[in-house]
Amino acid sequence: MTLRALSLRHLDAASEPALHSLLDHLKGAGHDFVPPSPASHRRVLARDPGRPAQSLRDVFGWSLPFAPDLLPGRLFEDLRKADLAVEEGGMWRSRVRVARLAGELFLHSAFPTSQEDAVFFGPDTYRFAAFLKAELTHADPGGVLVDIGAGSGAGAVVAMRLARPTRTILTDINPSAMRLAGVNLRQAGCAGELVLGEGLDEVAGPLDLVIANPPFIAGEDGHAYRDGGDLHGARVALEWTEAAMDRLAPGGRLLLYTGSAIVEGEDLLFQAVAAMAADGPFELRRQELDPDIFGEQLSDPAYADVDRIAAVGIIVRRRGHA
Ligand SMILES: C[S@@+](CC[C@H](N)C(=O)[O-])C[C@H]1O[C@@H](n2cnc3c(N)ncnc32)[C@H](O)[C@@H]1O
Repeated sequence: MTLRALSLRHLDAASEPALHSLLDHLKGAGHDFVPPSPASHRRVLARDPGRPAQSLRDVFGWSLPFAPDLLPGRLFEDLRKADLAVEEGGMWRSRVRVARLAGELFLHSAFPTSQEDAVFFGPDTYRFAAFLKAELTHADPGGVLVDIGAGSGAGAVVAMRLARPTRTILTDINPSAMRLAGVNLRQAGCAGELVLGEGLDEVAGPLDLVIANPPFIAGEDGHAYRDGGDLHGARVALEWTEAAMDRLAPGGRLLLYTGSAIVEGEDLLFQAVAAMAADGPFELRRQELDPDIFGEQLSDPAYADVDRIAAVGIIVRRRGHA
């Protein structure tokens, strides 16, 4: 059985009560699911094709078809009325999945995520969160935090807990992401402003902390969460870095998590960031967080000269004190 990709484009304010009641229910039930990469997800489902859901993890983790009576109380009716459950061949499927990270639950898109407006949440989100934790554990409280391309809002929630900003802004070009992020933040007891738009175009400085996990796969195949553009997929990361550097307050930092193409042993993205920072009041650091991610991409002609894709954390700090 091939699972259909399910859009979230129709979500509006009227969908929010059903999303909150889903999260309330799953919290009470101790829901715990870590979404694997799409390739791993596909392999797990292929072990038993056609298997219907037998648990809430199957419905809201593995995105399997379910019978209405599997969901307790009014949950199925709430989801159906809000068009969050879709009928497929006599069974139903949820348009959303729910992942656990840092003790909180996060709504994101059902598997498979081949819709253009899919709301991303995956292994990169966990690496991004671990990078933020390592960098922000002793951060001074206060200031303005921006999460560019915030997706489900998971990075923003982790950063808010650690950096305790006075104001938080989340941006994304995907309206479905901003909708789910709003619900996810409220559930986590966090307050943030949701700004629909490109990069930092709608956000003025000065900014004290900018965090980002941009799309970084080379090319443009019509998926906002993965299309990093040219430069082996580093174009979007570079544009966001430049925009953040323009707006950083004295002492302010950009924490950029991304997948960077390594060509003949050199990190081309980091070299480009270093060239941009060379004449300015900036300090740079780079950490290699995982030497080899998304190895399957190396068969793509766009990566013909690439040794490997490394998960990296790049820290840009504007010199001075807040
Ligand atoms: C790899 S996902 C990361 C999502 C989230 N920050 C996380 O870590 O789970 C990249 C996100 O950037 C958003 N995005 C892509 N291009 C963008 C742009 N030009 N401006 C703002 N957001 C963009 C996508 O919609 C997606 O939510």
